[in-house]
Amino acid sequence: MEPISFHRPVLLGEVREWLSVRPGMVVVDGTLGDGGHSELLCELVGPTGLVIGIDRDPEAIPLVEQRLTRFSDRFLAVNGNFKDLPELVATHTVRPIDRVLLDLGWSTTQFVTRGRGFSFMTNEQLDMRFNPSENTESAGDIVNTASLRELIRIFRLYGEERRAEQIAEAIVAAREREPITTTQQLANIVVSVAPRVGAIHPATQVFQALRIAVNDELAALREALNTITTAIPHNARVAIITFHSLEDRIVKRFISTRTDVKAITKKPIIPTEDEIRDNPRSRSSKLRIFEKV
Ligand SMILES: C[S@@+](CC[C@H](N)C(=O)[O-])C[C@H]1O[C@@H](n2cnc3c(N)ncnc32)[C@H](O)[C@@H]1O
Repeated sequence: MEPISFHRPVLLGEVREWLSVRPGMVVVDGTLGDGGHSELLCELVGPTGLVIGIDRDPEAIPLVEQRLTRFSDRFLAVNGNFKDLPELVATHTVRPIDRVLLDLGWSTTQFVTRGRGFSFMTNEQLDMRFNPSENTESAGDIVNTASLRELIRIFRLYGEERRAEQIAEAIVAAREREPITTTQQLANIVVSVAPRVGAIHPATQVFQALRIAVNDELAALREALNTITTAIPHNARVAIITFHSLEDRIVKRFISTRTDVKAITKKPIIPTEDEIRDNPRSRSSKLRIFEKV
């Protein structure tokens, strides 16, 4: 299905400023999404450069290939997990990697059009895998089979959900009556124990937590930081955009504990008020950039 509109890349000006991409460079966009950042990177590397875009979601690949056909001399898209970034890149070029960008989480297009069950706004199968052909548990599997304790852990840790225990108990009670297979069933269970207060839907954190658990997102980030840093040459830069405090903590700790990297900015870069007004999804984004020394 064609997207209603493309995902809006966050912190685009800041990535341009701090990633410092120059003509002729090899740049890897490890979270291609709709290719918004890759489009900028293709412009910056020029005709002698190379941009390799990776996405775990196979549906992202043809969409961006089509969107960026005018850069076919310097752009290619690959389906895969960014934790395998060095190997994925090595199958396409022997040139060293100069820059890497990771813009974590989901794209608006995935959220709205792919029917993967990321959103409680529509009624879809509870899947939430970035790549549904990966032989891993879906959100539906977790909700229907995880122990009460495990559900509480997921909601508390990945969703920072205050009502983790009540919500998990309500899920366990509901699944004894019938399997929970759709986003609406799950959203209704959450609302039954956590009524709406304010503008944020009460199921927001539960859905976020399940998506992080289903895709093992924090482990992928930890592994990627290690494998990428080991594979890149001195002076190469890595930019990571996070949307969750746990993700940001992982990146911050990585930069401060590794002796072979240095932070390019002391503090994380955050969006301007104008960007937040224009694109509310950017609100929680944080950009950290480090360089291999
Ligand atoms: C926020 S979107 C990226 C948007 C993109 N920067 C743009 O401008 O359109 C995040 C993307 O990362 C992908 N993704 C998430 N985890 C991944 C992983 N471990 N490896 C590769 N891609 C991943 C998602 O499928 C999604 O398309």
